[in-house]
Amino acid sequence: MDFVELSATHKRDHQPDWPVGSDVGRARSALARAAPLVSASGIHRLRARLAEPAFLLHAGDCAETFRDNTRRSVARRVSLLRAMSDAIEMRSGRSVVTVGRIAGQYAKPRSAPVERRGGLSLPSYFGDAVNGADFSVDRRTPDPRNLVRAHEQSRKTLSYLRRSDVFTSHEALLLDYERPQTRRSADGGRPLDHSAHLLWIGERTRSPTGPHIDFAAEIANPIAVKIGPGATPTALINLHALLNPGNEPGRLAFIFRMGRRRAYDLIYAMLSRIVAEGWADRVLCDPMHGNTVVSPGGVKTRLVAEIEEETTAFFEACNDTGVIPGGIHLELSGDEVSECVTTGMDDLYLAQNYTSACDPRLNPDQAVYLAELVGELLVSHRGFGPRMELALSHR
Ligand code: PEP
Ligand code: CO
Repeated sequence: MDFVELSATHKRDHQPDWPVGSDVGRARSALARAAPLVSASGIHRLRARLAEPAFLLHAGDCAETFRDNTRRSVARRVSLLRAMSDAIEMRSGRSVVTVGRIAGQYAKPRSAPVERRGGLSLPSYFGDAVNGADFSVDRRTPDPRNLVRAHEQSRKTLSYLRRSDVFTSHEALLLDYERPQTRRSADGGRPLDHSAHLLWIGERTRSPTGPHIDFAAEIANPIAVKIGPGATPTALINLHALLNPGNEPGRLAFIFRMGRRRAYDLIYAMLSRIVAEGWADRVLCDPMHGNTVVSPGGVKTRLVAEIEEETTAFFEACNDTGVIPGGIHLELSGDEVSECVTTGMDDLYLAQNYTSACDPRLNPDQAVYLAELVGELLVSHRGFGPRMELALSHR
């Protein structure tokens, strides 16, 4: 098989090119027959929570892996999320809803469809739901049976999560995974995607005429959409019209990931539009994805100071427009990873414990530090009485 030729078509909507002879139909049927991963009542419960002015902590792995899907690893992630939500609640007095990038975050859009190492070109790693991270022909070849494995692994994670109050979410990227899990709703309303409570649409697939927004418009789950620096306020108008035409609180969230340099101006423009239109949509800050840099040694990393800078810019833009800061979106690990740097750019540090299958994640200390910062920024926001009332009147 010629992988370079194969990859040329991959860019189309970021759907995998399942190899000829592999049976994606069979995988879809298995997913369609499987018991739902999350219940309708769970999805509705999250939607109701998001309709309140609670703050949304939305965080977890960039890419989960089947290998790390152990009870201990999940427990560490959950206890970190709890420490963060406690830190935010204690400082700000605002109640926190926790949604993990967990129990199904197995699909990754990639900017480069092919990875070259030495003389060899292979498909990039698209997440465990598609192929394997190891750089071999065998592992990198997409295999639709991985869709079914991702479903089984998600069920396993959910069994570990049973006694925690964490809702689940992942990027709704693979339509061969999401559509078969979408079922008619018992109350006659729009169908629900039972693969997770909340689904988000990524920056690369949010075209208002693309199949992902089409899919999101059909289902009644809470939806989030990533918004990068290339988006205009008009793009928001289209997305709001398609995804939340009834302007219902709890239905739609915009996750801004602008990059620290332009974050304030770009977010300010977006929020002004939201206020002018009177939308009930929630706004979140993803200070990770616009701030990825490469170390002198060639390692993908992020600086905590830059993550902090974009987070602060988001809160300032909220303050200055009178919009309620709706949440924070972070990539983190429950393990002591060395993927993001706190002080200066240090390749020796990065080499210590860099285990991410995709983007660099915060370790527990860095994550709690940011949660504390968010708690404090929320306090200073609360000080803004009259604008807060203005914002509430827009909900
Ligand atoms: C992600 O959240 O891992 C991601 C790929 O983000 P974005 O769509 O914002 O690039
Ligand atoms: Co990521």
